[in-house]
Amino acid sequence: MIKLIKPYISFDEVKDEFEDIFNSGWFTKGKYVEEFREEIKSYTGAKYAYLTTSATTALTMALKVLDIKANDEVIVSDFSFPATANVVEEIGAIPIFADVSLETYNMLPEELEAKITSKTKAVIFVDALGNPSGIHEIKKICEKYNLALIEDAACAIGSSENDVRCGNIADITCFSFHPRKLLTTGEGGAITFNNDTYVDFFEIKLNHGAKVTDGKFDFVDFGYNYRLPELQCVMGIKQFQKLDIIVCSRNKIRDEYIKGLEPLGFEVQKLSGSIVYNVQSLVFKVPSNINRDDLVKNLRENGIETTIGTYCLSGTTYYKNKYNDVQKNAMFLEENTITFPCYDDVDIKYIVAKIKEYT
Ligand SMILES: Cc1ncc(COP(=O)(O)O)c(C=O)c1O
Repeated sequence: MIKLIKPYISFDEVKDEFEDIFNSGWFTKGKYVEEFREEIKSYTGAKYAYLTTSATTALTMALKVLDIKANDEVIVSDFSFPATANVVEEIGAIPIFADVSLETYNMLPEELEAKITSKTKAVIFVDALGNPSGIHEIKKICEKYNLALIEDAACAIGSSENDVRCGNIADITCFSFHPRKLLTTGEGGAITFNNDTYVDFFEIKLNHGAKVTDGKFDFVDFGYNYRLPELQCVMGIKQFQKLDIIVCSRNKIRDEYIKGLEPLGFEVQKLSGSIVYNVQSLVFKVPSNINRDDLVKNLRENGIETTIGTYCLSGTTYYKNKYNDVQKNAMFLEENTITFPCYDDVDIKYIVAKIKEYT
């Protein structure tokens, strides 16, 4: 089977540090946590970085630091993984779905402006499949209306727009290190920002509500444990060291697929403006005469794993039943996009040949 993903990390790369951790018995809140945080800061250019157990917990913390409350409205990109809207729902706020571009798959500026009301408190812009195209334009609109911008960069570590890396563009950025992501720690996430006034919140909330002075704990608030253990941080550090090489090689693979598939009528996810794209997921629109689900099934029978692009959030059963506000472009993309395997030794010629046979 040609699998959809392969991790960019081997046991050999981490075994010395794993041995160090086992020998020391120091499994959490140690030097590898601090090193991983430093890597994230220095790579993204953000002033602060905190680790979390996932992008979902990072996004939840982002909404909390902004003091988003029940019945506030948060405008979210509609082509994403459900976690983007779930975090809004979970705190009792209202997700307002903004439709996306059929080219970049990202939130449309005119959609955002049309959906702003007096109840809007924040915007969650998703770098769809790792592509940050258009985020600076969205940022300008947020500034105009005095709205906080959260970047759901779950897929976008290693990407940038206008020479600014994801992690240093929005007010708050949330990353995922799930195994489907380019850089994985098994599960995991991070949150980055530049605003000094958020620091106390994260120091206390991510430490069970404790303020620590001279090693003494004073539980001044209620809080959480969303910590990433030492072993997982070692995995993250190792992949950071080769992230730019990975991004470069994935772009070459993308180019190869484009050469093979565009003549067959497939259209790759577009980048607009000055973008470095990490090619987190390599997604194409299928030609109009092709049934995407049938193609996925056919390729599986030929030993090739593919999947849909991602989801139209407003069209999922839960959100459709609750808000009945399905967005047209996002639904079109959910139904007509396909993700292809993307890693160094993937047999693109075989995949293209099988698609040619099918079309
Ligand atoms: C855009 C987006 N946001 C959030 C998430 C949730 O990430 P995690 O699994 O780290 O919570 C995902 C996961 O696929 C995602 O793609």
